[in-house]
Amino acid sequence: MESTRKKLITLLADAKDSFISGQRLSDELSISRAAIWKHMKALEQEGYEIEAVSRKGYRIVSFPEEMSVNTIQWDLRTVWLGQKMYYRNQVDSTQSIAHQLARDGAVHGTVVVADEQVKGRGRLHRPWHSQKGKGIWMSIILRPNIEPQRAPQLTLASAVAITRMLKSVCHVDAKIKWPNDIFLHNRKLAGILTEMQAEQDLIEYVIIGMGINVNQNQTDIPDSLTEIATSLKLETGETFKRETLIQSILKELEVIYDQYIQQGFSAVKSHWEEAAYRMGETITVKTRNQKWDALLVGIQDDGALIVEDQTQNRRVLYSAEIDW
Ligand code: BTN
Repeated sequence: MESTRKKLITLLADAKDSFISGQRLSDELSISRAAIWKHMKALEQEGYEIEAVSRKGYRIVSFPEEMSVNTIQWDLRTVWLGQKMYYRNQVDSTQSIAHQLARDGAVHGTVVVADEQVKGRGRLHRPWHSQKGKGIWMSIILRPNIEPQRAPQLTLASAVAITRMLKSVCHVDAKIKWPNDIFLHNRKLAGILTEMQAEQDLIEYVIIGMGINVNQNQTDIPDSLTEIATSLKLETGETFKRETLIQSILKELEVIYDQYIQQGFSAVKSHWEEAAYRMGETITVKTRNQKWDALLVGIQDDGALIVEDQTQNRRVLYSAEIDW
């Protein structure tokens, strides 16, 4: 049902302003003309404005304002990522929904999107502000056949996918701040939360949670975060259609994930380093009882950060606090 609806929307959307006859739709979708008519009524219920003219057929006059699985999937050009998708108006956290779906056997590539999260969460148990209709709050279920210790590489691949989307759709040059933040003009625009269920050396599933601030105005950003957080709208002055951004992230992630599985981490590493925040610059590292300056030189295959101290010794950082 869902995929017939998706194909129907794709056919109509691709035809732009032209009509498509009921007969052609019925032939292409192998369903009766009565079934086509029922689908049209259901689409109208979802907010699509459809024009039906006898002897001409149907065309879409306008798309719904509200996001839904259909509005995301109609122009989704992926093979497997997001082909199974759940959309909710309001959730505690898309991460929790995704965990439940994964435990219940959801397929690799299942995506959960919400319009609003009331208990969105970030790394280190920090809350993640997820205002209604303003951003992308999305969790992706993956079932990679890799060792659990390689899971952080998926965070890095996801960060690359987000920056590529930002470049191609929003024309901004965002940077990846290790390990999981996306920065634009020195403020945080997006964050990634990777959670995993694994047994010994077998991953059962990984959930990649992405939070991207899209259409927030200054008043939508909590006072405590105004100095450190931003949105695409605040940085570019433009309002973005969230569906277009989601379609692009999923496409980019599918491409880079497939390369990663086939070729290993080298397929991700150079892209990550190209987009890394403050690469080649001096940063201050704060470990438990030390504070020192270091040059940022790259990442290791296990996702750890490589820096060079002032005596040109290379050091590897897993969880140090960095003064960016
Ligand atoms: C961080 O920067 O600390 C990570 C933020 C991750 C937020 C996303 S929004 C979608 C998903 N659901 C959540 O509750 N968190 C992640």
